[in-house]
Amino acid sequence: MKISFAEASLPKSGAVVVGVGEDRVLSEAAATLDRDTGGALVRAMAASRFNGKKEQVLSVLSPTNLSIGRIVLVGLGKPAEINAVLLQNLGGSIVAHLGGSGEADVAVLLGEGADLGLPAAEAAAHIAFGAQLRSYRFDKYRTKIKPEQKPSLKKLSVLLDDAAGARKAYGALEKIADGVFFTRDLVSEPGNVIYPESLAEQAQSLTELGVEVEVLDEKKLKKLGMGALLGVGQGSVKPPRLIVMQWNGGKSKKAPVAIIGKGITFDTGGISLKPGAGMEDMKWDMGGSGVVIGLMKALAGRKAKVNVVGVVAAAENMPDGNAIRPGDILTSMSGQTIEVNNTDAEGRLVLADALWYTQDRFKPVAMIDLATLTGAILIALGHEQAGLFANDDALAEDLIAAGREVDEHLWRMPLGDRYDRQIDSDIADVKNISGTREAGASIGAVFLQRFVNGAKWAHLDIAGMAWSKRDALTVPKGATGYGVRLLDRYIAAKHEG
Ligand code: BES
Ligand code: MN
Ligand code: ZN
Repeated sequence: MKISFAEASLPKSGAVVVGVGEDRVLSEAAATLDRDTGGALVRAMAASRFNGKKEQVLSVLSPTNLSIGRIVLVGLGKPAEINAVLLQNLGGSIVAHLGGSGEADVAVLLGEGADLGLPAAEAAAHIAFGAQLRSYRFDKYRTKIKPEQKPSLKKLSVLLDDAAGARKAYGALEKIADGVFFTRDLVSEPGNVIYPESLAEQAQSLTELGVEVEVLDEKKLKKLGMGALLGVGQGSVKPPRLIVMQWNGGKSKKAPVAIIGKGITFDTGGISLKPGAGMEDMKWDMGGSGVVIGLMKALAGRKAKVNVVGVVAAAENMPDGNAIRPGDILTSMSGQTIEVNNTDAEGRLVLADALWYTQDRFKPVAMIDLATLTGAILIALGHEQAGLFANDDALAEDLIAAGREVDEHLWRMPLGDRYDRQIDSDIADVKNISGTREAGASIGAVFLQRFVNGAKWAHLDIAGMAWSKRDALTVPKGATGYGVRLLDRYIAAKHEG
């Protein structure tokens, strides 16, 4: 969707959006329009249940004395509660409401003096950001889509005195939206299109933005001793890859922040085969790596003053004559041997090598991995927030705080010896499952912890968050891009400058 900011007054056509506070307190712009329409807005509110509560929307077809198509009242809620997230949600609900309405253009009239909790320019930028995030679609394979199934809305402009200030504030947000969209695109693609090599090609497109990208093939992985990543990939005709992306926007000697992603481009379970029903969902088992790649795009796009490395461990988990068997023992890059008692616990295997490699090569200030690691986290937290595991309290708190600010929530879950000892193996150094279903997300996390070598580390289990079956205000159903905004915020708040 095309976003713009302008100082112009009332537009000549299209839809016009104005804000209404709780208890039907009209913003200045809304009051003016109410006068222009001979009181149509106040009458419409009185005739409906619209009372200005946040997330409420009321459309009024414009009377014939005005050339605009319709006037849309949006609830602003209580002035004290207005913040960036509420404004983003407001932008999203405008698109949800008008997307297929027949209107092509919408102008959001902030009006000066409106109490939006933050400076008008920033408020305008956040409304636009939310609208843009909600406008995302993945239609490339729908060749027979009918015109009436396509969105009508093409353009959103926010009108305010400080249009230049809004444009400036939107600059960085637009780049973050680009990153979120890249993640959503990658995660939406099916397994026959996105596999380790093609995922690597997608990452390579970031070189245009100044990201350094290296792709390690099987030969290099073998040389490095990445037996865990290679083991997971050996049942597939699509060979595994390790993708290393570096954005060096900070001081040259400063140690980077490292973000690592699980990149299982399709997870059948391997020889420990998953049930058939719902297996198509496992195309998004590269959701963590999708976030890493989208985040690198956002950071490079907005020229973040920080050094960040993104590492993706990409493999396809297939059953095959050459696949690993339950009971097989793999030697990881760390030297630790792993008894693979369930080939469906493959994410932790590829991450074991990626985590070890990352701390060994980059000595990062902090290492954060994202993975659709366990069904257990979905049982614990649902689709409301991701599970956070961390060996450092300050890192955990910083991530939770960043999540709150962008409405991508995290809930801290436990690590600890009591879980760790459950993955001691009788025949190797560690086994990849405990053998019970109990505390499954923590078991996955303590397995990863054996490969972080004491680095400051956090693990985000995003199995419940990467994909959504329901529309949300700024996230249409499908691939969510959850994690890009969160990590962008964390990096901006804690590492930039
Ligand atoms: N990719 C799955 C986890 C998953 C499940 C993500 C459902 C999204 C939705 C992972 O590789 C897996 O299969 N985990 C197993 C681990 C078990 C074998 C210890 C699981 O959660 O069942
Ligand atoms: Mn699996
Ligand atoms: Zn998996």
